[in-house]
Amino acid sequence: SVEHAFYGDAEQSGIRTAPQRYCVYMTFDVSSTLASDLQVLLARWSGAIAQLMKGRTIGQVEPNRVDGIGVDTGEALDLAPAGLTVTVGLGPRIFTDEFGLAAKKPALMRELKALPSDAMKAELSGGDLSLQACADDPQVAYHAIRDLARMAKGTAATRWTVMGFGRASAGKGQATPRNLMGYKDGTRNLKEEPDFEKFVWVKDSGPAWTQGGTYQVVRKIQMNIENWDADRVSDQNTVFGRDKREGAPLSGGHEFTTPDFHAKGADGTEKISPTSHIALAAHENNGGLKILRRSYNYTDGLNQYGLLDAGLLFISYQNDPASFETLQAKLGSSDRLNEYISHIGSGIFFVPPAAKQGHYLAEGLFA
Ligand code: HEM
Repeated sequence: SVEHAFYGDAEQSGIRTAPQRYCVYMTFDVSSTLASDLQVLLARWSGAIAQLMKGRTIGQVEPNRVDGIGVDTGEALDLAPAGLTVTVGLGPRIFTDEFGLAAKKPALMRELKALPSDAMKAELSGGDLSLQACADDPQVAYHAIRDLARMAKGTAATRWTVMGFGRASAGKGQATPRNLMGYKDGTRNLKEEPDFEKFVWVKDSGPAWTQGGTYQVVRKIQMNIENWDADRVSDQNTVFGRDKREGAPLSGGHEFTTPDFHAKGADGTEKISPTSHIALAAHENNGGLKILRRSYNYTDGLNQYGLLDAGLLFISYQNDPASFETLQAKLGSSDRLNEYISHIGSGIFFVPPAAKQGHYLAEGLFA
């Protein structure tokens, strides 16, 4: 069973890590106004996550007292680490005068701007803390979130959660998985080292403790599955600018052929529609801009009308929240995909760098 390291000198695990098969994502509201309570929680979470990622419990399952309550809830006892990573993020309110931490704010931290096509629900948005638990076994990921949420009681309360059941982004060296629209997702994801340095890790004039961190943007994007399934595949291809089976750009070639956004067909129109998803999002058409996508498919079962309630738990990492906004401002106003999706939840979190051995996450925030 794969095991990832919690402690390190660079970024937290679960960002560059090749996406595992499952994800449980949860956000929290901090209910205390004391920075010291937040500090204690982050220190305790760090110690616990380090144990969980090794496939261990976070305390006794059966306390050796007859009337004792378990510290660890036990459902991952016989399961291996399963590649578990738990990535911790800090929301915008953490860096305000409320906690006396305004002077330590990451340089570019702020709420995301309202963007075209936003259909946000308050109960699916925001949060002061985020946990992204990914593993190749869903029970391992769920156990981690459950026990960390339990540990937070009294300091932070659960806010919203999404359970991702299949990765919908490829990392380097992985075969490209498919999203719930049936298309390969992650073909042209950010995968190369120089791009991580340029677009993902924070290297700016902000506080020292933030260097090597990154900004996590999360969007719960609902798909209108029945409408999509009633659409001709030829039109679905036009929406993405790629073909369904191979994932090749409509300008020709195979999955990894670079799209030619200028190529025209016999009728004189672009082979890849200028309002297709890839034409609008491609770095060639956005001044070279790239983001790291690390998304998962999700389902909440059926909605009140008996329709499939499912979509994409979109998670991106970038060293400036404006990178996401630039792309989504374009997609939200022109993307052909908008007919079939709604952004219903949103959050932004600063993800501090990894804790060094013997230390805890975001320690420098309290120094
Ligand atoms: C590419 C699906 C939302 C940014 C793609 C591709 C698919 C896809 C199938 C082509 C394969 C690939 O290169 O990965 C979806 C679906 C979405 C969604 C189903 C919503 C439900 C978003 C959002 C953003 C985004 C919200 C950013 C704001 C990108 C980028 C590319 C891409 C940057 C690469 C384009 C290129 O360089 O060719 N997406 N996407 N996507 N998507 Fe999305």
